[in-house]
Amino acid sequence: MQKAQVRFDRDFIIGETDRRLFGAFVEHLGRCVYGGIFEPRHPTADKNGFRRDVLDLVRELAPTIMRYPGGNFVSGYDWEDGVGPVEKRPRRMDLAWKSIETNEFGTNEFIDWCRLADIEPMLAVNLGTRGPDEARHYLEYCNHPSGTTLSDLRRSHGWEKPHDVKFWCLGNEMDGSWQMGAKTANEYGRVATEAAKMMKLTDPTIELAACGSSGRKMSTYGDWERVVLEHTFEHVEYISLHTYLNNYADDTPSFLASPDLMDSFIEEVVAIADSVAARRRSSKRIMLSFDEWNVWYRTRRGDENRIQTGWPVAPSILEEKYNMQDALAFGGACISLLNHADRVKAGCLAQLVNAIAPIMTETGGPAWRQTIFWPFADFSNLGRGRVLRTFVDVPTYSTRYYDPTRTEELYDKMEAVPYLKVSAVHSEADRTVTLFMLNRNLSDGIEVDLEATGFGTLSRQRAHELRHDDLSALNTKEKPDEIKPREFDAIEATNGWIKIKLSPASWTVVRFDTSK
Ligand code: AHR
Repeated sequence: MQKAQVRFDRDFIIGETDRRLFGAFVEHLGRCVYGGIFEPRHPTADKNGFRRDVLDLVRELAPTIMRYPGGNFVSGYDWEDGVGPVEKRPRRMDLAWKSIETNEFGTNEFIDWCRLADIEPMLAVNLGTRGPDEARHYLEYCNHPSGTTLSDLRRSHGWEKPHDVKFWCLGNEMDGSWQMGAKTANEYGRVATEAAKMMKLTDPTIELAACGSSGRKMSTYGDWERVVLEHTFEHVEYISLHTYLNNYADDTPSFLASPDLMDSFIEEVVAIADSVAARRRSSKRIMLSFDEWNVWYRTRRGDENRIQTGWPVAPSILEEKYNMQDALAFGGACISLLNHADRVKAGCLAQLVNAIAPIMTETGGPAWRQTIFWPFADFSNLGRGRVLRTFVDVPTYSTRYYDPTRTEELYDKMEAVPYLKVSAVHSEADRTVTLFMLNRNLSDGIEVDLEATGFGTLSRQRAHELRHDDLSALNTKEKPDEIKPREFDAIEATNGWIKIKLSPASWTVVRFDTSK
C-alpha cells in the first residue's frame, strides 16, 4: 500500500464554489432533447411531454444551471423557429449534426423544464449564421416584461412573465472550422462586443460569456483568448473553456492523469485574462465558464456519428457508453474544477441525456445512470462550500497523454503526476468537511494520513467509494447498477489522527462533521 499525507487548514481557502459550477448542457443533438428530456408518447411523460423518469434522475444528479440550445447547433439556429404554436413550427435541416430539427421543443418549453427541475437556464445566442440584432431580439423576447412587440409575442405564446434568464453565452466555439459562421479572433471579438453592448442595453442585469478557444490544442489557443478579451473586456464577465478527455491511446494511467491538463488550461486562461486586465490597469477579473467538459472519444474521432445517411430526426448519435475508468477520469475533472473555485464560476457537464451523457434512455423504454453519473452527483450534491488548499505528499508517476485534435496530433508530457488527486470542501453552514479523492494507482491502495487544522474533531458522517475490479465494466439497460457507489468504512480515527485506506483505481468521497 502506498502512503500519502494530506493536510489542510480551515483558514487556507481557495474560494467558495459558485452554485453555477455544477451545471450541465442540453443541446439539440441526437436524442438529448427528443427521446431524452422530452418524449410526449413515453409512459412517464407529463402533460408537457417531459419524461418524468428522466426528471427524477436529473434531480438526483442535481445540476444547477443548464446550457441550451447548443453547442454547434446554436450556430445555425433561428430561435423564432422554436416559439409559437407547435403545429406552425418549421422543420429545418440542422447542418451541425446532419439531422432534421422539428422544433417541437424550443425556448419556452426549455424554460418550463428548467423551472420544474429547479435549474437555472443558461442560453446561447447564434453568432455564427446570425448576429447582434437577433441576439438582442432573442433576449427581448425572453426577458422584457411587456409592452414591446417581442415581449408581447412571448405573452401571446402563453408565457406572461419574463423568463429572466441571467446567463448568456455569446455564440459557441467560434474559432472552430466545423462551426457554422466560424470567425477569426478579431472578427468574433468585434461581433461579440457589439452583441454584448446591445444585449446589456436591452437588459442590464444579464451576465455574458465570450467564447474562448474550443480546446487547449487549437493552434490559435492563447492568442484567441487575448484578442477576444481585448475586444470584449469591458462588456463580458466570463470567458469559456471546453475540454473532452480521451483514452484513444488505450493507456489508463495517462487517461487518469489527463484531468491535470484541465488545471493547466484553467491557470493559463486566468493568466491571459489577467494580463489583458493588467494592460488596462484594471482591477476587473474575468471569470471562467467551463461550459463544456466530459470524457468523449469513442463516438468522436472521424466524426463517425455525423456521417449518418439521410436526414434523420433525433438520431442515436454520440451515445458514448461510459465505463469504470471513464468515471475515474471524470472524477479527476470534478476535482480540477473544485480546486479552481476562485476563478471557475460556471461549469457545464456536456451533456445531460443520451448524447455524451450521464443519463441514458431507451426511446419508449427505461432510463438509467451511466458510470459518470456518480462522481457528478457527488460533486454537485456535496461540493458546495469553501474549497481549501490541500497539501498532498504522495508518490508520483510520469506519463504522456495523447490528445489529437481536428488539426494536429500531439502528446503532452506529464511529469510528476501524483497518484492521489484530492479536493477538500468546507461547509460552514453544514459544519462539514468533504474530501473527494481519486486514487490513480491501478494496482495499489493508498493509505492517507489526514491532518486537518481548525475544525476541532472530525467525525465520519458518511463515506462511499466507486470502484470495480474490471475497469471496462459499465452500466447497461439490463444491468443498470453494475457500477454504483458502495459504503466505505476504511477510515480509522485515533487521538485526532485520521487514516483512510483507499482502494486501487477508486473514487472515494468522505464527509466529516466538524466539532467547530
Ligand atoms: O458537446 C458536443 C459538441 O462539442 C458541442 O456541440 C460543441 O460545442 C463541441 O464541439
